[in-house]
Amino acid sequence: MARRFESGKLVLASHNPGKLKEIVELLAPYGIDVVSAGALGLPEPEETETTFIGNARLKAVAAATAASLPALADDSGLEVMAIDRDPGIYSARWAGPTKDFGMAMGKVLDLLKDKDDRRARFVSALALAWPDGHCDEFEGDVWGEIVVAPRGTKGFGYDPIFRPDGYDITFGEMDPQKKHEMSHRAVAFRQFVAACFKS
Ligand code: IMP
Repeated sequence: MARRFESGKLVLASHNPGKLKEIVELLAPYGIDVVSAGALGLPEPEETETTFIGNARLKAVAAATAASLPALADDSGLEVMAIDRDPGIYSARWAGPTKDFGMAMGKVLDLLKDKDDRRARFVSALALAWPDGHCDEFEGDVWGEIVVAPRGTKGFGYDPIFRPDGYDITFGEMDPQKKHEMSHRAVAFRQFVAACFKS
């Protein structure tokens, strides 16, 4: 049974501006006082775990301990089936220190050049940690296919090469509002909200 978040401040333990924006928008209806780890000057811990859930927990626990406040962390990425689920937990790292997602998407497209299987999923793990060490975790995903060339300038990261099942457009071409309704992060968020906020 997850611990309920009753009121007060919540630290968002993410330093990725694209994800921060999405999470703030997803939390907007709940009237929570959200503060980012960056604004509190908290360091960004190294992601040393081997799963999305493990890395989300690591980041949430580090922020909750450092800030003495409940902290929410997200770890997410793109798994491409034909290349052994890469880039997976290394999705951010494939873009290198300059966060060059054009290059990272090019690498995925290159590796898929001679493959028939273009199935992929975005995964989002969320962890809500408390200063006493308690932590609840949630995971959501959305399946789709990798298109042959990037399309669209909305969104961030690998959005331009991912076309979700049931749609003709990529996440890069999708209005943010629509993406928020059906993304991996939205699925994980619904679980988080149902467990931690709703009575
Ligand atoms: P991390 O969770 O900070 O380790 O980074 C995950 C990486 O996965 C991001 O930097 C993006 O490249 C990618 N990613 C996660 N979610 C999305 C998404 O919704 N759209 C596009 N790329 C994403």
